[in-house]
Amino acid sequence: EKGMYDHFMLKEIDEQSIALRNIIQKYQHEDGETRLDSDIRTVVQESDRVYIVAAGTSYHAGLVGKQLMEKIAHKPVEVHIASEFVYNMPLLSKKPLFVFISQSGETADSRAVLVKVKELGHRTLTITNVPGSTLSREADFTLHTFAGPEIAVASTKAYTAQMAVLTLLAVDTARVSGIELDFDPLQELGIVANAIEALCSQKDVFEEIAKTYLMTTRNTFFIGRAVDYYVALEGALKLKEISYIQAEGFAGGELKHGTIALIEEGTPVIALTTQSHVNLNIRANVQEVVARGASPIILSMEGLEQPSDTFVLPRVHEWLAPLVAVVPLQLISYYAALHRGCDVDKPRNLAKSVTVE
Ligand code: F6R
Repeated sequence: EKGMYDHFMLKEIDEQSIALRNIIQKYQHEDGETRLDSDIRTVVQESDRVYIVAAGTSYHAGLVGKQLMEKIAHKPVEVHIASEFVYNMPLLSKKPLFVFISQSGETADSRAVLVKVKELGHRTLTITNVPGSTLSREADFTLHTFAGPEIAVASTKAYTAQMAVLTLLAVDTARVSGIELDFDPLQELGIVANAIEALCSQKDVFEEIAKTYLMTTRNTFFIGRAVDYYVALEGALKLKEISYIQAEGFAGGELKHGTIALIEEGTPVIALTTQSHVNLNIRANVQEVVARGASPIILSMEGLEQPSDTFVLPRVHEWLAPLVAVVPLQLISYYAALHRGCDVDKPRNLAKSVTVE
């Protein structure tokens, strides 16, 4: 039920901190550490490469998951769009593990890959919000995202929950491999939950950004570098699916190779900067679009901010920044759609789960 909310989407954005706390609790053992099922641990350990397969927002979570697995667990990961993978299979490693990420667990494109790789005899793991769903039943193993039912067509809390579970998978893999971590992942996820809560208590700021920049525009760009680029892709998808504003997520350095031709006087460009090693690079990219007339909206992370930034996000561990940085983008999309008179929870042409290939 929506309760006091006008839309499920806003309720589900707010529920992200609760979902994270749920995940922390569900995956925490008595000794305070995370432990995954020993069979899952073994299958990850034995694989020489992880192939993440997903669609849409879940694919975007997979891109962040690759970073987490490679940085935290030193495990090589490839991320594939499900509908492409089926007909354009890459050369596989000797011992691949397939990880399907799916909120609904019913996405036909992802299932087609699952069926195919099972035929080839490979091991499979599904990360889903619906245990008992098709992808969960048909895979060898399941990890549950514990986000609670997601009703709005635009995925929000499932995405952050997927990234949190991918963090725990990476941390568990690191621990088994004897890799020392210099941070406490459960504590860091708790800090992320607090940060999300803080952002959700400042909705008026994001409503104002939407009203100032997105009421009449026909197009928008989201830019970021490194992992911020992946969040930019998700921000753009959110905005276009519910507000019908054409939105593109771009790697900051790539714009100048063609797309910058689209920047006109007043084109909104939302830039994310949460990663210290590329802070100056993305700021240079913002200057490039500002010089062509763009209206920049800069969202930076505390510690990296500059006086002209539009909003400063609470500081969290840089590797977990996507879980926080996406929240303003979800809220900006929500208010843009709302004030443009769109049907936020049921955007045109879309269904909650896509069960056709
Ligand atoms: C976007 C969205 C879709 C889904 C995609 C995959 O907000 O909801 O892009 O993420 O259709 O769905 P699942 O995760 O159910 O496999």
